[in-house]
Amino acid sequence: MQTVHSLDPLRSAVAQLREAGTLALVPTMGALHDGHLTLVREARKRAARVAVSIFVNPLQFGAGEDLDAYPRQFEHDCALLEGEGVDLIWAPSVEVMYPQGFSTNISVSGVSEGLCGAARPGHFDGVATVVCKLFHQVLPDLALFGEKDWQQLAVIRRMARDLDLTRPHADAIMGVPTVREADGLAMSSRNAYLTPEQRTQAAALPAAMNEAAAAIEGGKTVEAALADLETALLAAGFASVDYADLRDAENLELLGRPTSRPMRLLVAARIGKARLIDNLAVRPA
Ligand code: PAJ
Repeated sequence: MQTVHSLDPLRSAVAQLREAGTLALVPTMGALHDGHLTLVREARKRAARVAVSIFVNPLQFGAGEDLDAYPRQFEHDCALLEGEGVDLIWAPSVEVMYPQGFSTNISVSGVSEGLCGAARPGHFDGVATVVCKLFHQVLPDLALFGEKDWQQLAVIRRMARDLDLTRPHADAIMGVPTVREADGLAMSSRNAYLTPEQRTQAAALPAAMNEAAAAIEGGKTVEAALADLETALLAAGFASVDYADLRDAENLELLGRPTSRPMRLLVAARIGKARLIDNLAVRPA
């Protein structure tokens, strides 16, 4: 396994890896858990070589967000990735990624708006800009992202199509189902912000979401199911619910009632110092 921190060694490493066949990229911000490692394992099944990027991207954090507090454990992450048989770790500094005077912004309209885009202005511009750069730097045949961040996946798919970032085959941007803890909570680096008590309370999020999805599938109105979900979260100890929406799974259009197309229930809610997000499929009527 090679670890590189600047562009010249990256280019040589990538050229060498690409000689061996297909190359997969798994972009991360480090603080790796089993969700990230599942992406890496999927990547290994699908490509001859696997590169993982570790970069806590300042552009996607808003003022007052957790950029400084975001967990960093680079040595430990490297050991985990070595154990997974990763070929290359790309870990640029902020100065390498965004040299003095950096002034380019990639903004994907439509799917970036609403949900986390509304609560975190500029967040998806930051994600799109860094992921576009990562594609140009690593030149992967495919890249893997978690369904945990459903809106992020939609933004990246849209950008990849719009900017011809990947060869136009269906699986070039692969979504991997959310990996969960035993009590159903989606794994997240931000779960580390929870106290033990809040961590226990947080399991109410997937529980209430499962209940709401089943209720909608069973014929309850979307409005009533989402109101129950919010009540359940506040009763369980969540401080507030940023959003709880039923949306078209692909174009993220807001739905007031079920449709015959694939749908997604998406929720963001705050507990203690953490803002947790999760999403779930809702089967068409
Ligand atoms: P990060 O939060 O580190 O997540 C890296 C990748 O792991 C993302 O594709 C995310 O969706 C996926 N992931 C996180 N938790 C998961 C879980 N429980 N199950 C499955 N996949 C999970 O997302 C980012 O970093 C950044 O925005 C990034 C894309 C790297 C751009 O900076």
